[in-house]
Amino acid sequence: MRTPFVAGNWKMHKTLAEARTLMAGLRQRMKPDWEVTVAVCPPFPLLLPMSREIEGTPIRLGAQNVYCQPEGAFTGEVSPPMLVDAGCSYVIIGHSERRQHFGEEHDLLARKVTAAMEAGLEVIYCVGETLADREADRTQDVVARQLEAVITAELDASKLTLAYEPVWAIGTGRTATPGQAQEVHAFIRGRIGSIYDGATAESMVIQYGGSVKPNNAAELMACPDVDGALVGGACLVAEDFAAIIGAAARAKA
Ligand code: PGA
Repeated sequence: MRTPFVAGNWKMHKTLAEARTLMAGLRQRMKPDWEVTVAVCPPFPLLLPMSREIEGTPIRLGAQNVYCQPEGAFTGEVSPPMLVDAGCSYVIIGHSERRQHFGEEHDLLARKVTAAMEAGLEVIYCVGETLADREADRTQDVVARQLEAVITAELDASKLTLAYEPVWAIGTGRTATPGQAQEVHAFIRGRIGSIYDGATAESMVIQYGGSVKPNNAAELMACPDVDGALVGGACLVAEDFAAIIGAAARAKA
C-alpha cells in the first residue's frame, strides 16, 4: 500500500506574515485520521520560520530547488546540507518552471538528485510534457527521457517521489482528465519497473500536478496510479489545500 502524498509548492509567494497565517489555517483544518503525507514547500527565506510552524504537527517541510554541491563559491545557490539544517525533509527537483525559465537540463538535474539524497533529503522529481509534445503524440517519449536521463538504479528509490505534471496544466486552470493522468502514471510506473524492479515500481509514490483544485482532486485521486498531488495555486489558500488533502485521504482510505 502506498501512503498518499500531497505537497504544496508555494512557488514565489508569501511574506513571512502571510505564511504564518496560511500555516495556522492549515494546522486548524488538518484531521488526525487523514493517512496522508503532507509537505509544504515555501521559498528559501521562509524555510526556517516554517520549520517552527510545523513543529508538533505531521506536516513536513520541503524546498523548491537546491544546488548540487555541498558548499563553495556558487553565489546565489543553496546546498543540500543547508536545506537539512533549515528543517527540510524534501526538495523538488526538475520542476518544469526550473527547466523552462532557468535552463536546467538533465545533467544538472541528475547531479542535484544525487547530491540531495546524499545529504539525506527525499526528492520529488517532476516530469511532464508540453502541449506541443502532447499534440505531436510525444508524451510517453518525453516522459521516458526525463525519467531515464535522471533516475538510475543507483539512486535510493525509497527516497524518491515522482510528480507527473503536464506543462500545459500548470497554472492554467486546465487539468488533465483522470483518464489522461492515469494513462501517464501507469506508463511511468512501468518505466520505474524497468529501471528498478516491479516491487519498487509498486511502492513508488507518483503525484499528479497541474491545476489540482478542491473540485477536481477527488476524481484525480480516485485513479489507481495517482498517489497524491503536487499543488501550486490551490496550496496558497489553507481551506483549498486542506480540502485536497482530505480528498486524497478519502480516495485512498
Ligand atoms: P498549479 O501548479 O497547481 O498552480 O497548476 C502545480 C505545480 O507547478 O506544481
